[in-house]
Amino acid sequence: MIVAEGLTRSFGGRQALAGVDLRAPAGSVLALLGPNGAGKTTTVRILTTLLRADGGRATVAGHDVGDAPEAVRERIGLSGQYAAVDERLTARENLQLVARLHGMSRRAARRRTTGLLDRFALTEASDRPAGGFSGGMRRRLDLAGALTTRPAVVFLDEPTTGLDPRGRADTWRAVRDLVADGTTVLLTTQYLEEADQLADSITVIDHGRVIARGTAAELKAAVGGERITLSPAVPDTLGAVAGVLGGLGPYRPEVDPRAGQVTVATDEGATALRHALAALEAARLTVRDVSLAPPTLDDVFLALTGGPRRPAVPGASPDGAGPGGPGRPVAVDGADREEAAGGAGRSGGRRKGALAWRR
Ligand SMILES: Nc1ncnc2c1ncn2[C@@H]1O[C@H](COP(=O)(O)OP(=O)(O)O)[C@@H](O)[C@H]1O
Ligand SMILES: [Mg+2]
Repeated sequence: MIVAEGLTRSFGGRQALAGVDLRAPAGSVLALLGPNGAGKTTTVRILTTLLRADGGRATVAGHDVGDAPEAVRERIGLSGQYAAVDERLTARENLQLVARLHGMSRRAARRRTTGLLDRFALTEASDRPAGGFSGGMRRRLDLAGALTTRPAVVFLDEPTTGLDPRGRADTWRAVRDLVADGTTVLLTTQYLEEADQLADSITVIDHGRVIARGTAAELKAAVGGERITLSPAVPDTLGAVAGVLGGLGPYRPEVDPRAGQVTVATDEGATALRHALAALEAARLTVRDVSLAPPTLDDVFLALTGGPRRPAVPGASPDGAGPGGPGRPVAVDGADREEAAGGAGRSGGRRKGALAWRR
């Protein structure tokens, strides 16, 4: 339902997209994962016909976004990065306005609106002006508006950025409902966890380039499951703690002297944590603070590119960091399988061997 090949776009000499390829089969959820400025919104704007690409091509629901924008618009819904609701209108009026603008009869608009309000848990608030809504309610109302015409493809640009955990959970539920209806969804996010929760496949972009592609499981395998972070009670023992952790599993611990923390990846979750604590106790090293958490976007970038988010590499290949660049794309789908070996090999460099945490 979504195919993009080699999309490029510059703004006043600055390249925002340097050749982005995407593919989303019907009924799937594709997550475009990347930090601020990566090119997510630019991609969404091109795919939703709001912006023309300089190069490359894209089709949505079988229609070319450049040649047949009208046909594309008839088949898509868009919930932009900033919720587009009229603050002076009530939730119901906002949705009725959208429905009527789409040419629905008064009756059909009323019926559709009532259904959407119910589905997005806005019934109670339906007759209050949207100006008084929380961020989560605004996003849900905006999302409901995007679904008014039952589009085949829905674009959600950072649907949960700025939401509290409750708003995030509500939005995730709404996206899952959409998918259950067979809708194809492209969502952008800065959160690996969100992509993991919602997406069938993930494309990671940075500086307008695809740096990795795959399922959440494939990306996590490249990045290493969760992260254990420990703060020793005595800062002097940071190195000793790292030494003990390094002896337990395949991943190299990272020491952050400023934060007074040691972090190590693990694929064994709480079991690894128990082993780590037992080993530290045996070594008479006391720990003040412990956490086990999924990898963050920073962890992904560290693993995929071998360093923190990097500046664009001029002349680099369209879907990777390019010659001499620090990273190889972890392309794990379809035709890119050959590169997957390269990606796995690279991230394998962080491992000391195939040893797991289990003792
Ligand atoms: N209309 C515009 N004019 C100038 N620069 C833009 C414009 N839109 C985006 N950019 C630039 O393009 C890059 C990608 O932006 P964007 O697609 O909004 O990233 P993201 O949505 O991933 O945060 C950024 O460097 C941004 O400053
Ligand atoms: Mg954006």
